[in-house]
Amino acid sequence: AVAPMLTKLQQDCATPLPVLRSVADSMSADMRAGLAVDGGSDLKMILSYVDSLPTGDEKGLFYALDLGGTNFRVLKVQLGGKDERVISTESEQLSIPQELMSATSEELFDFIASVLENFAQKGGNFNLPPGRKGEIGFTFSFPVKQTSIDSGILIKWTKGFAVSGTAGKDVVACLNEAMDRKGIDMRVSALVNDAVATLAGARYWDDDVMVAVILGTGTNACYVERMDAIPKLQGDFSPSRRTIVNLEWGAFRKGLPLTVFDRDMDAASINPGEQANSKFNLSMLTPISLIFEKTISGMYLGEIARRALMYMAEEGSLFGKSVPEKLSLPFVLRTPDLSAMQQDTTDDLQTVGSVLYDVAGVESDLNSRKIVLEVCNTFVKRAGRLAGAGIVGILQKIEEDTKGAIFGKRTVVAMDGGLYERYSQYRRYLKEAVAELIVPETSRNIVIEHSKDGSGIGAALLAATNSKYERNL
Ligand code: BG6
Ligand code: GLC
Repeated sequence: AVAPMLTKLQQDCATPLPVLRSVADSMSADMRAGLAVDGGSDLKMILSYVDSLPTGDEKGLFYALDLGGTNFRVLKVQLGGKDERVISTESEQLSIPQELMSATSEELFDFIASVLENFAQKGGNFNLPPGRKGEIGFTFSFPVKQTSIDSGILIKWTKGFAVSGTAGKDVVACLNEAMDRKGIDMRVSALVNDAVATLAGARYWDDDVMVAVILGTGTNACYVERMDAIPKLQGDFSPSRRTIVNLEWGAFRKGLPLTVFDRDMDAASINPGEQANSKFNLSMLTPISLIFEKTISGMYLGEIARRALMYMAEEGSLFGKSVPEKLSLPFVLRTPDLSAMQQDTTDDLQTVGSVLYDVAGVESDLNSRKIVLEVCNTFVKRAGRLAGAGIVGILQKIEEDTKGAIFGKRTVVAMDGGLYERYSQYRRYLKEAVAELIVPETSRNIVIEHSKDGSGIGAALLAATNSKYERNL
């Protein structure tokens, strides 16, 4: 009885070329609408206030803080200018404690400040000359309405965060207050989104980088735009002036092939119709309109698959007569579990069996393991291909404005985030979709490249470009 269920699932998740093309076209159209006026589309098209891209000449010692989806990193970067580039980096990474994700704003920023303090103490404070403060590039991976390069208001939390008292506030002020409380004498010179920092970091090494995409807990993209192509920026800009625009593409929603499992998951979340957030309120059932982040990013793939498997267990006896109890727990199956199962090469699918048993107490036979793999693959294929279509949408938009600017030359898309880095099937599906959507003669010009942890260097570079001091150290 499971076979027809699987077939229906595969049909609902199908992403044939016309679906991909329509997603890419809608992405381009939504970008334009969001650039025209604030609130003009699902895409916020947030201005980064980055008005000069890294050149390689940046010099000096800078700190970077990176608050991502699952990890918090602090770095110290010594930039040496054109010839020496990055002389050294030191960094420390920790996973963000679960309880901080629903703590108060003060608690979260106190945590960030104390990690920074410990880190800085270990390495000495750069031996900065008297009166000169350490400068920070602050990568903050949430939607922020920037008000300048070093200030911005949190629009709302996304991903697993439900910290109280930050939304509507300037996050740089929040960090400054926490540093003051600890007597840390440093200042933030640049506040950037993780996608923007990744673009800056990758561009430092390669002038052909035009787009950056994060595929991790959440997802986002940004790109290099001409200022005169941003009507809402209002001003008379020469076409040579460029900036980085953050799409916040997690909120994109047009033409996505969805299933009943996506809809149920969205309806059960505390932010139906919005970007990913893990806090669930099962009694809340609201009409939905689904969005990109919940369909393609790491926080949700495991959960969508769990819902489909639960349904197959209940209605199709996928795992025999009894339904494994633990499988009914939201988020018990995680995206890394899907990836681990998909790497299984044994004949009897041993890894699949042990992952199912370990995470959800599921006893399985070879047949049910094969179905489980098909279910995972169906959602991962849809996700990777839709992400690929989104990327082509961005490339298309730039190409339409300036013929040849993208497809007529080498163009690099810098990728980062745990999902992209660690899920090989996801990467493959993404690249396949990109190749299907662009004509073969030009597809070799489009390079999709992993830019590992470029966001750290990127934030330090932007701190350097926007340094408050005239003379670099
Ligand atoms: C990291 C980047 O590699 O990926 C961060 O350096 C980014 O800036 C992060 O926020 C996102 O991935 P994840 O998997 O932690 O959400
Ligand atoms: C979420 C955030 C966004 C971030 C992305 C990737 O979508 O809203 O700002 O860039 O996750 O971390």
